[in-house]
Amino acid sequence: MEVHGLLSVCFLHCILCNFAHSLLVNVHVDVSKPLGKITKNFVGVTMNSTYVKENWKYFNLKSVKTQTLAAGLSPSYLRVGGTDADFVIFTGREVNTDENIRKFDPINFTMSETSWDSIHRFTQKVGWTLIFDLNSLYRTDGVWNSSNAEVLIKYSIKKNYSMAGWELGNEPGEYLRKFGVHLTVQQLVKDYQKLSSILSQAPPNIRGRILIGPSTIPLVQSRVVQFFNEFLRLGGNAVVSSPNFHHYYMDEATASVQNFVDPDVLDGLQVEINHGNDATRKFTHGKQLWIGETSSAWNGGAKGLSDGYVAAFMWLDKLGLAAKNNVGAVIRQTFYGANYGLIDHVTMEPNPDYWLTYIYKKLVGDYVFQTDSSDKRRRVRFYAHCAAEGFPPGSLAVYGMNLYSSNVTLKLTGVLDTSQMKVYLMSAPNQNLQSK
Ligand SMILES: *[C@@H]1O[C@H](CO)[C@@H](O)[C@H](O)[C@H]1NC(C)=O
Ligand SMILES: *[C@@H]1O[C@H](CO)[C@@H](O)[C@H](O)[C@H]1NC(C)=O
Ligand SMILES: *[C@@H]1O[C@H](CO)[C@@H](O)[C@H](O)[C@H]1NC(C)=O
Ligand SMILES: *[C@@H]1O[C@H](CO)[C@@H](O)[C@H](O)[C@H]1NC(C)=O
Ligand SMILES: *[C@@H]1O[C@H](CO)[C@@H](O)[C@H](O)[C@H]1NC(C)=O
Repeated sequence: MEVHGLLSVCFLHCILCNFAHSLLVNVHVDVSKPLGKITKNFVGVTMNSTYVKENWKYFNLKSVKTQTLAAGLSPSYLRVGGTDADFVIFTGREVNTDENIRKFDPINFTMSETSWDSIHRFTQKVGWTLIFDLNSLYRTDGVWNSSNAEVLIKYSIKKNYSMAGWELGNEPGEYLRKFGVHLTVQQLVKDYQKLSSILSQAPPNIRGRILIGPSTIPLVQSRVVQFFNEFLRLGGNAVVSSPNFHHYYMDEATASVQNFVDPDVLDGLQVEINHGNDATRKFTHGKQLWIGETSSAWNGGAKGLSDGYVAAFMWLDKLGLAAKNNVGAVIRQTFYGANYGLIDHVTMEPNPDYWLTYIYKKLVGDYVFQTDSSDKRRRVRFYAHCAAEGFPPGSLAVYGMNLYSSNVTLKLTGVLDTSQMKVYLMSAPNQNLQSK
């Protein structure tokens, strides 16, 4: 592959300091052979099923501003799911919203045909495709009762909706701890097989191409890694299109600015991807691991951090690391809501990570290349892909960050021509990393 010409460098800056004394860092891009390839849907977004529960009262699907911001990220998967997914019951009956909301969380609630219609109207309008997380706690004698899912699928067929795909439950390995429901991994595999056989009888536009599972929490504890492995080993490998896990670096309650620029924290993701990739390689033939729900900090994100400039370090590094490790998609928690939303939940204004996602989608293209940074402290981190469509053929997109609190001088090697570059340099005003 010939790589030359325009280079777009997207560079996140920590704190600006004296250039004269700056550290020299060599970043070598190996363009001799790609490591892999991402699709246009590599970056997706989530929305909580909580919005379904509230009948979209707090997220206006009809807002032109929201639709414009959403369309800016198209094409994109929208995964509607999360904790509340396991309490949604589809019904033809119109829902009394207040009746839904007043009950405490988490408790069964209904999704009406109208609510389902409005999600589809929104995704069609903004050019997104839907992945819907079905209620896995809808069980009879411990076995997943597919009757409600079948009603939803039948209705979707009647309306000729287009689905990207499906998921069954949210973090099912945690049901005992969270809800006192005992579900074995053997049973979960059987439930997924049941769903897969129902979907196989549906038309292609309803079946979609995606079935994700087992949707575990971060692959840190060995019991979770084991659950992930067992799910694939016992038959999940044949039914899911993309084995997935959820990833967060930390708890919002204890998160600090320093955590967000700590290379050890960022490198933690590599270990988890390795666990996921090891199992995926062992039990599937060429399927790709997905990060099916992910953000900086769990429990809604950290206020003033997950919605600030500093969050971009985690987000950009995650995208780079995931692509480099053959991950098929990274689904960002969340498009809207809480502190980790791409859009501020009070003002509806885009947060820094919205713009980062937007720029990423405009600049970063399919083939992924190996990069090596001479910075042994892993604070100058770079990734390289072919540039997105629209740039001259052979263009590269090199993106990365400086986690030092001073300027660095960057020298790019391995690329054939750096005489034509577009540089997008991002920094926080007044060195305020919590700036929006
Ligand atoms: C650090 O680099 C930026 C971008 O080139 C520049 O604007 C700024 O003046 C530099 N800071 C110092 C102190 O040299
Ligand atoms: C929620 O619905 C499921 C499936 O019908 C049922 O097993 C469960 O008992 C219900 N939970 C509550 C709290 O009503
Ligand atoms: C599934 O749930 C429905 C509604 O609660 C019930 O009528 C039906 O008997 C259940 N199906 C099975 C196989 O248990
Ligand atoms: C259903 O939707 C597909 C596109 O997803 C379209 O090609 C097809 O014509 C539609 N069928 C009907 C009956 O409207
Ligand atoms: C989404 O759900 C998660 C739990 O699944 C919760 O921590 C978070 O606050 C919710 N966010 C929004 C925007 O509702």
